[in-house]
Amino acid sequence: MDRREHWERVYVAKADGELSWFQSEPGVSLELIQGVVPPARSVIDVGGGQSALAAGLLAMGVERVTVLDIAPSALRRGRERLGAAAERVRWVEGDVLEARGLGPADVWHDRAVFHFLTEAADRRLYAAAVRDALRPGGHAVIATFAPSGPERCSGLAVRRYDAAGIAAEFGAEFELVNSATETHTTPWGRAQDFVYAVLRRGAPVD
Ligand SMILES: C[S@@+](CC[C@H](N)C(=O)[O-])C[C@H]1O[C@@H](n2cnc3c(N)ncnc32)[C@H](O)[C@@H]1O
Repeated sequence: MDRREHWERVYVAKADGELSWFQSEPGVSLELIQGVVPPARSVIDVGGGQSALAAGLLAMGVERVTVLDIAPSALRRGRERLGAAAERVRWVEGDVLEARGLGPADVWHDRAVFHFLTEAADRRLYAAAVRDALRPGGHAVIATFAPSGPERCSGLAVRRYDAAGIAAEFGAEFELVNSATETHTTPWGRAQDFVYAVLRRGAPVD
């Protein structure tokens, strides 16, 4: 089964309360995005179709919010959740590994997408997509399962990281400027350890 089909099936089959990653309030993500300097005016949320992050970003006053997701049903759910405010968001269906022309953005946000990339070649494609979309001086906020977190998510294997490990995947052009940990509780009460890395994009490195 390909990636798109996998994720589409998940969202067709499961309600929000059946998704392990579900958060009604993405507090740590919003706090970290709020902390970047200068304040973010444009944010891309990768894999955020079903997430409440877009609503939080609009409430924070972010002017340009883009949500990218591979699953059309996730995007449909996100639009429905926002109601009329959905018109203020750019919704993009696609695979992050092929994403081009989404920026320039001040912040690239990803909670629980990068950690599914178990192949080094895919992680290189992902880093290229970040470089394409994020302006120099912009920030990538990447959240994955922590070393103490689960080994699988949604039936798929994941790679677990600490903040320095996430930074190492993006090379010398990106500096780790902040990090956070969170023990997320799934809707059915299981604890999952996450780590968040905030990476600032500097000048290109040859
Ligand atoms: C585990 S969920 C996390 C959702 C959300 N970021 C959150 O924290 O609540 C992963 C999401 O990423 C999307 N996704 C997975 N692989 C993707 C890819 N290669 N490109 C774009 N979106 C992807 C899925 O459809 C799903 O919505």
